[in-house]
Amino acid sequence: MDGIESLEKDHDRIRSLFSELEGTTEPQELQDSFDKLGNILTIHAEAEEQVLYPEARNCEGTAELIDKGYQEHDKGDQMVLAIKSISSNEAEFKEKVRELQEFMLNHLDEEENDLFPRVRQCMNDKKMEQLGTQLQETKANVAPKVVD
Ligand SMILES: [Fe+2]
Repeated sequence: MDGIESLEKDHDRIRSLFSELEGTTEPQELQDSFDKLGNILTIHAEAEEQVLYPEARNCEGTAELIDKGYQEHDKGDQMVLAIKSISSNEAEFKEKVRELQEFMLNHLDEEENDLFPRVRQCMNDKKMEQLGTQLQETKANVAPKVVD
């Protein structure tokens, strides 16, 4: 799998976890799905920041998109952290998850529509495969530190 394909796969997983969260009001299910979502968001953002963004900076027209990416990851982290302090029994939990969903889905769409095509255009097949390998390695390193 090339690097962008693997990131798009993460994006799909993130979208499906948000759908799961939308589809339930049962507190334990909400908590479980949210925990999974928080973990994958952290691992995914780390992989993008450590591998994708530095490489993508060499591609034309990406600087602003990457700066925005870092900012949006920070904002997403803060939103996840805030939700962690709310009990999934409370109505506020779902409200805040919905805000996170709106924000994150917009971020994922922007990457897929603006950043990823530029990266694809500027890297050859070999480079894209290398990117995939580096992303996998980074995720494997980050994952044990994230799972609680
Ligand atoms: Fe992403």
